[in-house]
Amino acid sequence: MAREYLDYIEFLNQTLQIPDVQQYTAIDLFAGCGGLSLGFEAAGIKTIGYEMVADCCETYRKNLRSECHQVMITPDMDFPKVQIVIGGPPCQPFSRRGKQLGKEDSRNGFPSFIEAIRKIDPDIWICENVKGLPEQNADYFKMLTDEFESLDYTVFKTVIKMDRFDVPQTRERMVMIGHRGGFIPPVENDYRITAGEALGELATQIPENAAFLTPAMDQYIAKYEAASKCKNPRDLHMDRPARTLTCRNLAGATSDMHRIRLADGRRRRITVREAARLQSFPDWFEFSGNEESQFTQIGNAVPPMFAYHLALSVIDYLQNRKGDKNA
Ligand SMILES: C[S@@+](CC[C@H](N)C(=O)[O-])C[C@H]1O[C@@H](n2cnc3c(N)ncnc32)[C@H](O)[C@@H]1O
Repeated sequence: MAREYLDYIEFLNQTLQIPDVQQYTAIDLFAGCGGLSLGFEAAGIKTIGYEMVADCCETYRKNLRSECHQVMITPDMDFPKVQIVIGGPPCQPFSRRGKQLGKEDSRNGFPSFIEAIRKIDPDIWICENVKGLPEQNADYFKMLTDEFESLDYTVFKTVIKMDRFDVPQTRERMVMIGHRGGFIPPVENDYRITAGEALGELATQIPENAAFLTPAMDQYIAKYEAASKCKNPRDLHMDRPARTLTCRNLAGATSDMHRIRLADGRRRRITVREAARLQSFPDWFEFSGNEESQFTQIGNAVPPMFAYHLALSVIDYLQNRKGDKNA
């Protein structure tokens, strides 16, 4: 798809407005702050969130039109009947840096996700997770796919490059979609948004309470980059999409963090609003909790602009399904 707008920030703020009329309903399991849900609501799908962290629920309720139930999701929970289920079951057990515990790990949300699909029997479900899940946990992934197929779904799996869906970030995530025939995934854009376009004037400013790197931190980074033969310093480059934002590198260790090099040579960490823009959250979306909690919510989120593209495909699917009992 070709680009149809000039100002990215204006585009985000407008495209992700939530319309008054919503034609379908989706349950969002492990909803976080509602990044995934925001894209669905903006496309015209009402959402109902389920999430255990209070700050996330508060952010969700403040910005979306919907309820977010603060609960610990378990396999024996009941849910209302809806056409769509979306969600990001916790992925720590599957991440490259994790301990590879997979199904034995109590933080694994898949058993609850599968039970919810069994009970709700939606027309379509979508599950987002780390890119490496199918290869690194191949047996477990096959078991999951078999289980979903036994519930009469065609399972479509794809790795999404977020920078092809109006997100200024090279994030890649695995998305599984369970449908009953005829789902067509969203088409990639043929352009990418740069960090500079997303941050705009923020990138040259020094915000109140700016967190500058100390000379000791700069030295540590210089040593780290020399030792790792790093060709591209890990400062934010304004002429390309940002590296993947994670909870760890937003608030975390020196060598890996996201930081801006100012004209005077100083480096500062990116702010919550800058991180939110790089995840394609509009400026009107406000996060609750302390700074660490806000960075965690942002790092965990599905970029709302990608979610919006996905939601449009879901609507197409529901509208074009012949004999759909809920359409
Ligand atoms: C990857 S994040 C989801 C991000 C979300 N999809 C978004 O786009 O903003 C996973 C979320 O699951 C929540 N969570 C983990 N285990 C849970 C459980 N058993 N019950 C409810 N929420 C849980 C975490 O608190 C975290 O916010």
